Amino acid sequence: MTTIINIQNTDWNQECSPVIQKQALSALEEGNVLFFPQLSFKMADVESQFLSLTIVGKSKNVSFDVSTGKLRGSEVGEVETTMLQNMMQRFAIYSNELLFNLLPYYKADLVQSQTSFRPVEVAGRSTSWRKDDTRLHVDSFPSRPVQDKRILRVFSNVNPNGQGRSWRLGESFENVASRYLPSMSSPVWGSGWLLQLCGITKSRRSAYDHFMLQIHDRMKADLEYQLSVDQINYEFPSGSTWIAFTDQVSHAVMTGQYLLEQTFHLPVNSMQEPSRAPLQVLERLSGRKLT
Ligand code: SIN
Ligand code: FE
Repeated sequence: MTTIINIQNTDWNQECSPVIQKQALSALEEGNVLFFPQLSFKMADVESQFLSLTIVGKSKNVSFDVSTGKLRGSEVGEVETTMLQNMMQRFAIYSNELLFNLLPYYKADLVQSQTSFRPVEVAGRSTSWRKDDTRLHVDSFPSRPVQDKRILRVFSNVNPNGQGRSWRLGESFENVASRYLPSMSSPVWGSGWLLQLCGITKSRRSAYDHFMLQIHDRMKADLEYQLSVDQINYEFPSGSTWIAFTDQVSHAVMTGQYLLEQTFHLPVNSMQEPSRAPLQVLERLSGRKLT
């Protein structure tokens, strides 16, 4: 079962003691959530205009690429676009600083990916069952294969009205995988290449991606499982921050509005204990190489 580990950082660039660093690294790799109750992302007065539903279009999220400065999914004017870029860039930089201080073991190999801002209330949001994040799942995305990399995410609740973000956390990855793997089919030979060729995926979908996507879908489609599996509810208060390997931690979001999120990718071999990675768990359980 997932445990929530409290860490008392108050600043994004705060130095962390070797004891905290060691504890954080092991806890994360074991599939727990690191929770920073006192670490909040401060928005400037002019940025509070972004705490509104009107800034997003159909996509519901705004995404930002810190390496190119490109913003997607927003429906704001030119001046506001620059301000929103600045805000998201600040969160990207802060997240980077937090991970560098907390997890120096990963420092050389972490790759920073998309930053996202999620201004839509989760409860009552209409989506297909596959995109419905109120159902327990591990992260895996149809158009964004990871090949063999981990997904590490930093979340910060920036709700201005004191509203928490309420999550459910389920069973261990080992249990999830053991439950669904026996009934899953292998990828059709050449399908990863074909999906990329047709532009359905941004890069080649590996056998590992194939199995992770199936696990994601099986979990979400299994309503009996959603209700009956061992789980806890946890509400992350406004003004707090948390970190998890979301490809490993079974999670669902039930309520909440206004979230910043930063995604990082990490090669499995850069972990302290690569055997804990979903890739290696699946390889062990299936008895075959998946990349
Ligand atoms: C998710 O990763 O499933 C959603 C997390 C959130 O929006 O709180
Ligand atoms: Fe998710």
